[in-house]
Formats: sequence, structure tokens, C-alpha cells
Amino acid sequence: MSNLVIVGAQWGDEGKGKVVDILTQKADLVVRFQGGNNAGHTLVVDGQKYALHLVPSGILHPGKIGVVAGGVVIDPEVLLEEIDTLTARGLKVTPEVLLISEKAHVIMPYHRALDQAREGLKGEGRIGTTGRGIGPAYEDKASRIGLRMCDLRDLDSFREKAEAAMAEKMHLLTHFYKADTPNIDQIMAAAAVWQERLVPYLTDTRMFVQKALDEDRRILFEGAQGIQLDIDHGSYPFVTSSNPVAGSVTTGVGLAPQKIQGVLALVKAYSTRVGSGPFPTELSDATGDFMRKQGAEFGTTTGRPRRCGWLDAVVVKTAVDLCGVDHLAVTKLDVLSGLGELKIATHYMLDGEKIDFIPAEVKDAERCQPVYETWPGFFSDISKARKLEDLPDTARRYLDRMSELCGAPLGLVSVGPDREQTIMLHEYF
Ligand code: IMP
Repeated sequence: MSNLVIVGAQWGDEGKGKVVDILTQKADLVVRFQGGNNAGHTLVVDGQKYALHLVPSGILHPGKIGVVAGGVVIDPEVLLEEIDTLTARGLKVTPEVLLISEKAHVIMPYHRALDQAREGLKGEGRIGTTGRGIGPAYEDKASRIGLRMCDLRDLDSFREKAEAAMAEKMHLLTHFYKADTPNIDQIMAAAAVWQERLVPYLTDTRMFVQKALDEDRRILFEGAQGIQLDIDHGSYPFVTSSNPVAGSVTTGVGLAPQKIQGVLALVKAYSTRVGSGPFPTELSDATGDFMRKQGAEFGTTTGRPRRCGWLDAVVVKTAVDLCGVDHLAVTKLDVLSGLGELKIATHYMLDGEKIDFIPAEVKDAERCQPVYETWPGFFSDISKARKLEDLPDTARRYLDRMSELCGAPLGLVSVGPDREQTIMLHEYF
């Protein structure tokens, strides 16, 4: 196998950062293909903590190349901030190791303003977005009024396009949302900096990745968010604006489906969700609080407390089917240590009927009653386990049952935040 797609099987925040970091050691390229700086990875490398939102984590390893492909939406301010932070910490972030798609769309200040104004107004019905302008940027892309990174090469035409895209939004922001509006002169002053500093990184990333595929170089495609946040397959409208499913690599990067050689789905040993929307196995009790505390379940991007609940096999099996998952990478198993019993939802009951899918309509999804299997828990510290045999029998039984119910074998199990705190069960690359 010379390439692998990594996806989140639940609602995001499954711990992709650490797994990508481990697998990057053997990869040549790490490629982001959708989403934007709504995603966030916290990584601990050589005792140093890094929080990355846009730059692929591969960049933390000397000799690896990070690619931000065309399906990603880029906030230039955030990108520059990350480049600066990494550079200040001694990393080499040059155009040789960080390649940005010239076709990626730009998140403009008016996208952020609109995202935040809408969320402010929606009250109870709010989606709970990250407020980073992701949705409005993808909207403009679909409306054919978006600005792309390649537009930075010609600032006169950039200004013209920005003014055209802004006109309607300024009206909305001023008169409908009564919010502050960004100013075109300020935007253009910022754009001059973006041009000077970011244009050197721009390239046709599709061709670059294609060449790497032809040369059989090892490529890790790093998905953001999780399958339940997919705009087509998640709990619409409580979703993000891109497609976190594995197939999205084909459009986000620009490659043929047959080129995908493997899919690894990240599964947290329990469930979490940030933002609003249906969450059948949510626990609003002491067990949920335990998971939040033990698992430090607070958003990397927004700091919001995450909603916590039992593992939902309906959700994970959906991801396995949708993405053609070869293996599950189970994360944060150690967080469950201390719980006397562990539950896994096997299906739901809705209006007296047994169902094994999440209904399309939110009002139905919210009424689904999870039906659980209960398994004995474990109490010991498992963070030193490096092979399955090191785990208590009850933890192994929980993992086996998870794999059986979700329909995919285990590829690795993470028992702590450090790279070493991992049970590798499959050789990738
Ligand atoms: P947006 O992507 O900022 O528009 O937010 C839409 C929904 O997706 C909200 O519920 C967010 O909390 C959620 N979301 C977006 N990115 C992430 C992520 O990386 N992890 C978890 N949830 C996310």
C-alpha cells in the first residue's frame, strides 16, 4: 500500500492528529483535502505541543511534504500565523515542503463576519459553527463568486472580484444582521501581504500529487471533521460545509477513485460532538462528565466543552460502509478506565420499530432511542499497553465487540496521547 486515507468515523475530534503523526513517519507526503481551519489538531512532538488548523502535521517531520489541496478553504491570516509559529519554533516551512493549491478558495473577512452574525442571530436553532467563515466561503465557491488563492497573483482583479462578492454581503451585514462590516481598503492591505508571503507556496497540487502517485511515493490523505458532519451524509443541517467522507479525496485533491489504496477510520472509544444536532447516545450525567474530564473533551479550535456519550456502532458502521474502511484506529481507550460498565449502541428504536440507521429528518433522529449492549469495564492504567495481550480481558472484549459490530478489523489502538502509547496491529506503508 502506498497511500492511505484517514477519516473520522464519528463527529470529528477522534484524535486524527496523533495517528497522522505516527503514520507520517513512514509517509512522504501528507495531504489535506477538505474543510479549513474549523479543524484542529493538538500534537505533542519531542515534548513540544503544537496546535495546527490548516498546515498538515507532516510538516513537523523533517523531509516530509505537506500539501493543502484545492478542496480546502484557506484563511490566509490563519495560514500565515501557523507558518510563523512553526518557523519561530525552528521548523523549516518553505515552499519546498509546504505546497498550497492555487485553486483553493480563500476565506475572506466578510465570510467570518457573516458566519458569526448568523450564529449570533439564530439563537436556539444555531448550528454551533466554529465561526471561522467556513460555510460562507464554500457558499461563494458554489455561487461562483469565490476568490481563489491564484487570484492573489493579480491584486487589481482580486479587488474587483472581492468588491463584487462583498456587495450583497455588506447589505446583509449592515441592514439585516446590524453587524460590523469589513472594509475593502483594509482587505486589500491584508491581501498585499498575502500576495507577498503566500504566492510563493502556490502550485497545481493536483499535478504534484499525481506525479507522486505515479512514482509510488507514500501519501497520507488527512481528512478533517467526521462522517456525521458530512454535508451530504451527516445530520443536515447540523453539519459542516464539506465532505469528510473518504471519496472526497477524489474531488478535493483531484485523483481517480481507483488510486485510493486504503482507508483507515478513526474511532474514539466513546462518542463526542461539538455544536448542535442529534446525538443519540449523549450522556447528560456523571458518566458524560467523567468522559469529558478524563478525555479533556474541549474543542481545539473553539475551546467549547464537547458533548459526550457511549460508543454508537450505528454511527461507526455507517462510516465503514460509506468510506470502504479497511481498519479502525481506536483512540482514547484509556479514558474509559474507571467505568464499571461500558455500553455500545447496536441499533435504535423509533416509533416501536428497530432501525440501524440515522433517519434523514433531524426531528426523527432526535427521537431515536439507542439500544445498548453492556460490557464489563476495566479499572487499571492501560497507558503502558503496547500489545493487545497487555490489556485487561474486559478491554479486549470491548474492542473485539466494537470491531464486530462496526464491521471492520482493528488497525491500531491508542492508549494515551504520546506516540509511544499505541498498540499497532497493522503495518501501514
Ligand atoms: P463549521 O464547520 O464551522 O461550519 O461548523 C459546522 C459544524 O461542524 C459545527 O457543529 C461544528 O462544531 C462542527 N465542526 C466543524 N469542524 C469540526 C472539527 O474539526 N471537529 C468537530 N466538529 C467540527
